[in-house]
Amino acid sequence: MTTSARPAGAALLAGAAFLAAIAAVPAVAATLSTAPFGATADGKPVTLTTMTSGHGVTVKFMSYGGTITEIITPDRQGHPANVVLGFPSLRDYETKGVEGGFYFGALIGRYANRIAKGHFSLGGQEYTLATNNGPNALHGGAKGFDKQVWDVQPGAASGRAVSAVLRLTSPDGDEGYPGKLDLVVTYTLSDDNAFSIQYQATTDKDTVLNLTNHAYFNLAGAGSANGVFQQVLTVNADRYTPTDKTSIPLGHNDPVQGTPFDFRKPTAIGAHLRADDQQLIWAQGYDHNWVLNKQGNAAAPQLAVRAFDPASGRTLDCLTTEPGVQIYTGNFFKGVLAGDGGVYRQTDAFTLETQHFPDSPNQPSFPPTELKPGQTFNSTTVFRFGVRK
Ligand code: GLA
Repeated sequence: MTTSARPAGAALLAGAAFLAAIAAVPAVAATLSTAPFGATADGKPVTLTTMTSGHGVTVKFMSYGGTITEIITPDRQGHPANVVLGFPSLRDYETKGVEGGFYFGALIGRYANRIAKGHFSLGGQEYTLATNNGPNALHGGAKGFDKQVWDVQPGAASGRAVSAVLRLTSPDGDEGYPGKLDLVVTYTLSDDNAFSIQYQATTDKDTVLNLTNHAYFNLAGAGSANGVFQQVLTVNADRYTPTDKTSIPLGHNDPVQGTPFDFRKPTAIGAHLRADDQQLIWAQGYDHNWVLNKQGNAAAPQLAVRAFDPASGRTLDCLTTEPGVQIYTGNFFKGVLAGDGGVYRQTDAFTLETQHFPDSPNQPSFPPTELKPGQTFNSTTVFRFGVRK
C-alpha cells in the first residue's frame, strides 16, 4: 500500500536554516508505504510503515507497539543519519528491548511513567497494578501498549503531509486499569519535516490515562561515539517535579533556578550531569519531569524543548499540548546490549516523553489524568527536525 502527497507550499513553511540545508534535496512528494515485518513470538503478523517527507526526513515505525524504529534526517551538509536508537529486527525489540525495560521508540500506556506502589483509587474504588519498577508501576505494566500489535491504516494524504492511523482497543481490566479504552493515534509527517503524534481515546468507565512516545534521540546518529553529552537542550520550564529515590514526585514543583535542572537557556546535557545533586544521584542522571511553561491556547501544541547538536547541526523542536516532559538520559543503558550503531551506554540518548506528571492519580495538586465516559482524550506532540549552520 502506498500513498503520496503533493509537495505544494513547502518553502512557505520552512525556516531559513532549514531551507539552506534542503537546498540540495530535490522537492518530491511525501510518501507512505507499508510492508510485512515478520511476526511476534506468539505469531501475530507485524508491519513496518515508512513515511518520507519529500524534504530529507524518513520515519519508520512498526505496528508492534507503534514503535518508531528509525528517523533519518540530514545534517548541515545534507548527510543522512538515523537519529533514534533501535534494533534491526522485531525479535530484538521483543527480547533485548523488553528484558532491559527500555521501551525503545514505543507508544506508552495506559499510564506513561510511574504510579506509586502500583496503587490508586478512583471514585471510591481501589485499583492494584503490577509493580514492574522497584516498588512502583511503570509505563502501563507487564504488557503495556508498547507490547501490543496495533492496527495500522493509511490516513489522509493532504497536499503537504502523509499520515497513518494506529488503533488499539484495551479491554476493561487490562493490566488492572478500569474501563474498555478505544485508542486512535495518528502519525503525520509533513513536508516541513515535522513528525506529529496525535492521541485520542475514549472509555466506557471512569479511568486514568497518560500516553507518550518513548523515542531515544541522538542527533549525531544512533550509536555515535560521543553520545549526547555535548548536545544542547533548551527546556521551556521554570519548574520541575523533584522525586524521592524511587522517582515518585514529592508533590511540589520546585524552581529550576540554581539547580542542574535549569535549561531555560541553551545548555549542554553534560554541563551539570556530574553535579553533586541528590536528584541526579538517585536517578543516575536526568530522569525527571519538567513542568512546561504555557501561554495562551492550551489546546495548541506549544514549544517544550529545543535540542541542537553543534557537531552535526541537527535540530529538533518538540511542541506539545501536554503539561510536562520527562527527559531521560538513558541512565540504565549499562553497555549490556547492542542496537543500531553499536553497544548502548549511559548518556547515549535523551528522551522527550511529553506527558502528564508522574503518579498524578495519587497527587491531588497535579493536573488530573482521569477520563470519563462521553469525554474524548486529546493530546498532540510534534517533533520538528531541521539543521543550523
Ligand atoms: C522512562 C523512565 C525511566 C526508565 C525509562 C525506560 O524514561 O522515567 O526511569 O524507566 O523510561 O528504561
